[in-house]
Amino acid sequence: MVKNIDPHGGKLIKRIVPAEEREALVDKATHYDMKKIQLNSREMSDLDMIAVGAMSPLEGFMCKADYDNVVDNMRLASGLPWSIPIVLSVTKEKTEGLKPGKDVALVDQANEVVAVLHLEEIFHHDKQKESLEVYGTDDEKHPGVDYVCKMGEYLLGGKISVVNRAKPSNFSTYRLDPAETRELFVKKGWRRVVGFQTRNPVHRAHEYIQKCALEIVDAILLHPLVGDTKSDDVPADVRIKSYEVLLEKYYPKDRAMLSVFPAAMRYAGPREAIFHALVRKNYGCTHFIVGRDHAGVGSYYGTFDAHYIFDEFDPQEIGITPLFFDHTFYCKSCNGMASYKTCPHDSSNHVILSGTEVRKMLSAGQAPPPTFTRPEVANVLSEYYQKLK
Ligand code: ADX
Repeated sequence: MVKNIDPHGGKLIKRIVPAEEREALVDKATHYDMKKIQLNSREMSDLDMIAVGAMSPLEGFMCKADYDNVVDNMRLASGLPWSIPIVLSVTKEKTEGLKPGKDVALVDQANEVVAVLHLEEIFHHDKQKESLEVYGTDDEKHPGVDYVCKMGEYLLGGKISVVNRAKPSNFSTYRLDPAETRELFVKKGWRRVVGFQTRNPVHRAHEYIQKCALEIVDAILLHPLVGDTKSDDVPADVRIKSYEVLLEKYYPKDRAMLSVFPAAMRYAGPREAIFHALVRKNYGCTHFIVGRDHAGVGSYYGTFDAHYIFDEFDPQEIGITPLFFDHTFYCKSCNGMASYKTCPHDSSNHVILSGTEVRKMLSAGQAPPPTFTRPEVANVLSEYYQKLK
């Protein structure tokens, strides 16, 4: 019998209110004097991920004991590994009238009630400390730090109960909750599934590490992130289209699954690699790919810091198995894909292009070489860059 890997903490959390209780709670949140807090798009995606168990064992936005321990030690108060704060912030003015023990209505951008926060704690947000510990810098040019700086100075902790699930309408065929991916893995007989996180267009290097990983497991879950990214990252719809054309021609249909990962990108490098792995375990993955500079930005992190950070934990407590990859590229002398680990030739043989170089080529109407990007993907990307002109 094929069995799924256990979720983080042992149980898949569900914080969506059962149908029979929903109406009463919506009524309470709408008509009584419940204070309202409006969520931004990252908070909406965090809320939804908590609600469907993608963030198991979290049942709500972090209270102080969890938050402090995550920032200081990469663990929840229970001792379970967790590397990224999942918080709800508000300004000082917004804390007026809020009281621990009193429920708060969480509303979306259209002011519709989406959930109730069972407020347990209001505590001060030490942004400087969070930036330095989680992102390794307090440089506001870092997109993750920039977000922290713009957050409110207080954090609201407590469990959530979602009453109106706002599933975004885009990528609807690819939106699968952890319970759904888990069920599909069992149905397909996949015991070992490797998860692949990505926020960039798919290049040959990605394909190479995905297929190397696929050689040793049963299947791959291609899980591109579609939550908020920084403005110069390629938009999610273009990235998904690239995957569609690639899957069509180059991937075994019975071993590769494309689904979207609704989280926002934090750009927290090594800490985010741990988070990405734990969350993919909740989706049912047994293995997770960590390549070079995973979730990095600029030169804030060392190329393999996201590998080394896994050594700070006992593999048992992480549960999902990381598969580490060196920097990969096409080598003209090897006449194939390779990495610094496997290739003996010097760099003049290697086809390595930076994101900026690729952007420049595509904007000028030039396709990157097929040794770097498959022509089918290059077409999708050049269409996007030509439209930008
Ligand atoms: S990320 O922010 O989601 O990590 P990206 O989509 O570029 O960015 O990377 C997805 C995964 O592929 C990450 O694990 C990253 O480390 C890995 N990766 C990207 N490019 C390479 C490469 N040339 N060699 C090895 N690993 C790579």
